[in-house]
Amino acid sequence: MTYQNVYINTIGCQMNVYDSDRIVQVLEPVGYRKTHNLEDADLVIVNTCAIRAKAEQKAFSFVGRLARMKRDNPELLIGVGGCVAQQEGDAILSRMPHVDLVFGTHAIARLPHILSRVKQDRVRVVDVAQSTAIDEIEGGGGFPVDSPISRFVTIMQGCDNYCTYCVVPYVRGPEMSRRPERIIAEIEALVQAGAREVTLLGQNVNSYGHKEGLPSFAELLAQVNEIQGLNRIRFTTSHPKDMSDDLMEAFGKLDKLCPHIHLPVQSGSDRILKRMNRKYTRQLYLERIERLRRIRPDIAVTSDFIVGFPGESPSDFEDTLTLVKAVAFDSIFAFMYSDRHIAAASRFSDKIGEDEKKLRLQQLLKTQESITLTKNRALVGSRQEILLEGSSHRPGLAEHASEGPQWTGRTPGNKIVNINTDRNRASREAFTVGQVVPVCIEKAYAHSLQGVLMQEELSNGGLKGNTCHAA
Ligand code: 5AD
Ligand code: SF4
Repeated sequence: MTYQNVYINTIGCQMNVYDSDRIVQVLEPVGYRKTHNLEDADLVIVNTCAIRAKAEQKAFSFVGRLARMKRDNPELLIGVGGCVAQQEGDAILSRMPHVDLVFGTHAIARLPHILSRVKQDRVRVVDVAQSTAIDEIEGGGGFPVDSPISRFVTIMQGCDNYCTYCVVPYVRGPEMSRRPERIIAEIEALVQAGAREVTLLGQNVNSYGHKEGLPSFAELLAQVNEIQGLNRIRFTTSHPKDMSDDLMEAFGKLDKLCPHIHLPVQSGSDRILKRMNRKYTRQLYLERIERLRRIRPDIAVTSDFIVGFPGESPSDFEDTLTLVKAVAFDSIFAFMYSDRHIAAASRFSDKIGEDEKKLRLQQLLKTQESITLTKNRALVGSRQEILLEGSSHRPGLAEHASEGPQWTGRTPGNKIVNINTDRNRASREAFTVGQVVPVCIEKAYAHSLQGVLMQEELSNGGLKGNTCHAA
């Protein structure tokens, strides 16, 4: 079979990374193979994100640049998928005459059919139909495409929460959970193909299975924990209002569940949380964190924030800063509020100016920066088990300045560690991606840690403990 090449540009979240893998899988049986080289492409797909205006602009500017390629090669096919495709539909075809197909978030399984219409009937196709049954959306399955060590697995689609700033419920549809046996089968297949870590994905994984009467998320995690050959389980994203006691307790029970929770809080002000329709208070959030830390003292906590939400006063913003200090997150993602015309907050008055949003963002990030560094420094002298993901040569970066080649991997708490193997020259080549090795943390930076392999422990299997007394 002679293959044609498909090039995919993935913009946005991990869910899109997973969807792009599915796109490659559904296209394979109809004669397409993934290429990393845009010039070689017979089909270019842009998997778009609509969460903030910036992501949307990025998608349109990339698609815009493809017009020239299409002029030079009229046989080239161009497809726009994902959340912007879902949101804009036909408008993309009118705005961009060189685009051949627009497919929404529920249309991936129908791509072969869409493509055959484009090719045989020489028509431009828009498919933004949304399904109410998860079985219609599934198909393909997240099987290995690139790095097989750490894989994403979508366990549910959509969202019912309607946070007032957010496009997700509109562009990804209502919440629907996949059946556990399908999820387990997919993870088993990934492990067979070499995966050692999976990250279970959903907009709000804590409410997994609720609507359908399926096992709870904590029960699903317990099932995944039984899979032979899998080392690590992660999940994202959680919603503070739906963090059940069972889920929190899972952190004390399941040996493969990594001690890390990404729990977006968005704001530290009750007034703003209410306007965002988040359905929890600052107090409840703080209580959940306290409880999680009691169950699993080494748990890493990360979060998302929006600054400059409509009506956010200086004192509301101050509440966010005090929350950041009170929780002492391991790291955070912070965004300036971005108006999305589908979402309710776009119709709120009291919009905050761009300059003020920028100032608040800088202040928030600065506050967190020193907390992150303090947290990372506290790990110096600790023994960490690192899942090796690859080797790195980054001589140009001061933060990673080192004498020679390094291995990189992550701690259970999801921190990146560069492992200096200069002092283990003999054993350096003996390691393989996917191995879990004991490492002593020696240095801490703002975005990563540096460590050294614990040679004695590796050679005689002894010396287990939590500290390693780094120099
Ligand atoms: N503006 C800014 N940030 C947003 N997010 C979601 N919608 C918006 C928006 N309209 C952020 C939230 C969410 C993360 C994925 O993106 O913090 O948790
Ligand atoms: Fe968006 Fe809120 Fe749903 Fe998260 S929970 S996807 S922020 S609507």
